[in-house]
Order: sequence, then structure tokens, then C-alpha cells
Amino acid sequence: MKRLAIFGASGHGRVVADIAECCGWEVFFFDDAEPMDGATLGLPYCGTFETLLERKGDFGGAFVGIGNNDIRMTKCKALLDAGYFLPSLLHPSATVSRYAQIAEGAVIMPGAVVNAGARIGFACIVNTAASVDHDCVLDAGVHISPGAHLAGQVFVGTCSWIGIGAIVRQRISIGSHAMIAAGAVVVKDVQDAATVIGVPATQVR
Ligand SMILES: CC(C)(COP(=O)(O)OP(=O)(O)OC[C@H]1O[C@@H](n2cnc3c(N)ncnc32)[C@H](O)[C@@H]1OP(=O)(O)O)[C@@H](O)C(=O)NCCC(=O)NCCS
Repeated sequence: MKRLAIFGASGHGRVVADIAECCGWEVFFFDDAEPMDGATLGLPYCGTFETLLERKGDFGGAFVGIGNNDIRMTKCKALLDAGYFLPSLLHPSATVSRYAQIAEGAVIMPGAVVNAGARIGFACIVNTAASVDHDCVLDAGVHISPGAHLAGQVFVGTCSWIGIGAIVRQRISIGSHAMIAAGAVVVKDVQDAATVIGVPATQVR
């Protein structure tokens, strides 16, 4: 069986590990803080990020199971620089069009839908039961939270976070490092680094 090193043994890391196993990987955890008993689902904990960088020969690939977009991007880039292969992980219950593109280091979680022509960037998360419709483009490091829905041709800039249950109307452009609040309905373009809240969503900072 192929051996996958996962950096991050938090809740998100554990969900990623479960998906990796469904994809046929044998999972080994790394984290800078030694996980508490039971926090790795009984799977092996093998050391810190530094140790992971030194052990490339032991694994068929590596993945970053960290929810924070900036940290995930930084760690993914460091793993690539160290020569690691970063797979994309698609849960078997996700529906992903064969006309969609999923970049390395991205995870598509249970029940999610990615439709034709969509492009999911490096190190993105499409979380549980979220949908990304036709021709959407997610730049690197984006997180689409559980149950959020993007209509067709939406663009999301690097490291932006679409909150749980949010809805984004078709052809909207969202800048980089933006925060779309849980439950927001986005009907206008969103600037870089803006936080928008509510129905319809308005900028609060
Ligand atoms: C928008 C968000 C980032 C704001 O977080 P915050 O800066 O910590 O804000 P606070 O919780 O202190 O709330 C500030 C105010 O905004 C309101 N508010 C917060 N989130 C809101 C939301 N999603 N919709 C409407 N109002 C919201 C609060 O009620 C509060 O109002 P008040 O000042 O009248 O009491 C956060 O609430 C959010 O939606 N995060 C997304 C969480 C998510 O999707 N998690 C998924 C993990 S996979």
C-alpha cells in the first residue's frame, strides 16, 4: 500500500486521513505538537514537520491537513520544495466532473460536487457537501466550508475562506484573503482581504 504522510493531526487532519484511507493510502501523522492519546485515530504519529522534511524516502506522498489557509499553503510549498509528491484527495462519495481540474494538495470531501469546467487550485479544500459549479476558478489555498455553494463562473482569489453554508451568485469575483461569513449570500464582487456578512452580504472590514 502507498504510504502518505499527513502533517496536522487536528480535526481537519483526521478527516483528511480518513479520506486518504478511502483513496487507498496508508496514513502516518506528523504534527509539531505531539498529539494527545487517541487524537490520531490510532494511526502512527511520526514526529514534527522538520522530521517529515527529512524522511521523504519513506513515503509515496505527503499532504497538509491544516485548515488555516496561509499555514496550509506555506507547508505545502515547503513539501514541494523538499521534493514530495502531493496528491489530490477525492472522497469516493464526492461527485467530481471528469471535465474539472483538481490541483495537487487539494481535498474534495464527502458529498461535495465539483462540476464541469471548474478548476480547483493548489492546496484548496472543498469541504463536506459543498458545491462548486461549472467554470468556477478557485485560486491556490482557498477553503470552501461545509454546505457552501458557488454558482457557475465564480472566481475566488488565493487563500480566501467561504464560510459554512454561504452562497455565492454566478459570475461573482472574490478577491484574495477574503472572508465570507457563515450563511452569507454574496451578490456583489468582494475586495481583497474584505470580510462580508449577511443576506445580502455587506462588507464589515
Ligand atoms: C464572520 C466571522 C468570521 C466573524 O467572526 P468574528 O470576527 O469572531 O465575529 P464575532 O463572532 O465576534 O461576531 C461579531 C458580530 O458579527 C455577528 N456575526 C458573526 N458571524 C456572523 C454571521 N456569519 N452572520 C451574521 N452575523 C454574524 C455576531 O453576531 C456579532 O454581532 P454583534 O456585534 O451585534 O454581537 C465568523 O462568525 C464566521 O462566520 N466564520 C465562519 C465559520 C465557518 O464557516 N466555519 C467552518 C469551519 S469548516
